[in-house]
Amino acid sequence: MKIAVLGAAGGIGQPLSLLLKLQLPAGSELALYDVAPMTPGVAKDLSHISTAVKVEGYAGDDIGAALTGADVVVISAGVARKPGMDRSDLFNINAGIIRDLVQNVTEFAPKACIGIITNPVNTTVAIAAEVLKKAGIYDKRRLFGITTLDVLRAETFVAEQKGLEVERNSIPVIGGHSGTTILPIFSQVQYATWDKEEIVELTKRVQNAGTDVVNAKAGSGSATLSMAMAAARFTQALVRGLQGETAVECAYVEGNGEYARFFSQPVRFGREGVDALLPIGELSQFEQEQLQAMLPQLKADIELGEKFVA
Ligand code: NAI
Repeated sequence: MKIAVLGAAGGIGQPLSLLLKLQLPAGSELALYDVAPMTPGVAKDLSHISTAVKVEGYAGDDIGAALTGADVVVISAGVARKPGMDRSDLFNINAGIIRDLVQNVTEFAPKACIGIITNPVNTTVAIAAEVLKKAGIYDKRRLFGITTLDVLRAETFVAEQKGLEVERNSIPVIGGHSGTTILPIFSQVQYATWDKEEIVELTKRVQNAGTDVVNAKAGSGSATLSMAMAAARFTQALVRGLQGETAVECAYVEGNGEYARFFSQPVRFGREGVDALLPIGELSQFEQEQLQAMLPQLKADIELGEKFVA
């Protein structure tokens, strides 16, 4: 497997590359690309870690070499939030970055699975889909918005609040990846019960967790370390699926359109990317109301991406 990380010199890209160097199956190749000239140095640094994963770094115009032969492309290139911004404020800069990077993927790695971290994910995934479509190579099984951080947060907060072992929880987070479009399905947690106020508060805590990190970092960036961990978990699961093993994670994908064109839900990975869309399961009345309430925003975010490319 060859995994390319685009944005590899950034706050997420560096720890993500480290985790992939440590965790990818032996014999894998890691190609790091960023516009920043330091990227070959980041790769050189990682290459001294004694695991059987080969690392190469590319900067500037050298994206073709990074992408050629890639099975998976993970994109964290772009700008991150500062206090007072929400994810949609990143659109003006990140939309063009995603369009251009995915255009390169169409040329150099047309069969690759693409995982997008760059915000606003609700919109950047739609941009990627339209670029791939224009190039005549769109396969919805191979495009993902990485929303695993919302799952990590839901798992952690529940374990903290209810004194559970964090590994025992598997909490689907559905919808999108911004504000109220993030909907953790706490009613499906097996070993805990809540009253209504607790659920409302915990749901908000997951929805605002990214903003809490942005504020705590006081202007120097958004979630990077937890996001790197989330993207590594997603990438590992995708790679396992591509290699024929069973793996399931929530991801923001083009599904059957029941709620919106793109929707985050549990996905089973397989040799071609998405192998099966798994049901979101039963929702409580509160969750059903939240789901209906988020749809206009989610659909508008998606349309913004579609129109940007059109
Ligand atoms: P950062 O600013 O630390 O790193 C971004 C990197 O992208 C920089 O190294 C920069 O040189 C590079 N870059 C910019 N334009 C590029 C281009 N055209 N080609 C290649 N590289 C390019 O930002 P950070 O903290 O790593 O965040 C990256 C993105 O991830 C942001 O959009 C942020 O909002 C998003 N994010 C997404 C999360 C999620 O749950 N999906 C969670 C946290 C952040």
